[in-house]
Amino acid sequence: MANRKKLYEGKAKILYKGPRPGTLVQYFKDDATAFNNEKRGVITGKGVLNNTISEYMMTRLTEIGITTHFIERLNMREQLIKEVEIIPIEVVVRNIAAGQICKRLGLDEGQPLPRSLVEYYYKADELGDPLISDEHVTAFGWASHQELEEIVAVTLRVNDFLSGIFLGIGVRLIDFKLEFGRLFTDDNVQIVLADEISPDNCRLWDIKTNEKLDKDRFRRDLGGEREAYQDIARRLGVLPEMGN
Ligand code: TMP
Repeated sequence: MANRKKLYEGKAKILYKGPRPGTLVQYFKDDATAFNNEKRGVITGKGVLNNTISEYMMTRLTEIGITTHFIERLNMREQLIKEVEIIPIEVVVRNIAAGQICKRLGLDEGQPLPRSLVEYYYKADELGDPLISDEHVTAFGWASHQELEEIVAVTLRVNDFLSGIFLGIGVRLIDFKLEFGRLFTDDNVQIVLADEISPDNCRLWDIKTNEKLDKDRFRRDLGGEREAYQDIARRLGVLPEMGN
């Protein structure tokens, strides 16, 4: 790890050059940010928990035929992934109103939406990741029509599948964010699911109590962030022995 080449450092993860061409090592930090980096903090042990939770989700998705960048977990904080060209769009799915959509449209938190909504945000920190439409995605060439169609199809499958996994552990999947990349193999290009799936980028409420078990605990100063992430890992059966 010491001499590894750092390629990119984001708010919650670091990417290093991988051991083989076409691979990267994704390192999960304990750093937490919210509201486009305005609020910063540390959730001790978060990196370890997100690493195992995301491994679990990516593995289950692979089992139903969804292609992801995940190869294997290397240790407590690192996983080996395929190098992809990240599409600069955050794809958000909302099943229940919470977060930004409540402010934007004057909805009550917890209000079921008429149907699951897919939204796009342009990944640009300096602009605060603005909400965009499919028109912007294709007009500016961030993804082609065909790529976007595939992204939406995969996203909806992921929503149904993850909603079921979470229901099975007594948790409601309120909303979440996905990122996709292009995987280049010989003369083929494939859309693959990238980034992570963890309580950092999902809203997860206990089905009985509506207790928040995700990063909203940090965003809203509710406390108990680490315990909430641990609760999700424990319910999924992947709680690491030492959560730090
Ligand atoms: P929002 O209500 O703040 O738009 O968030 C919707 C979902 O997307 C929520 O589960 C958190 C996730 N999300 C991220 O993972 N990264 C982000 O930068 C944003 C804005 C949201």
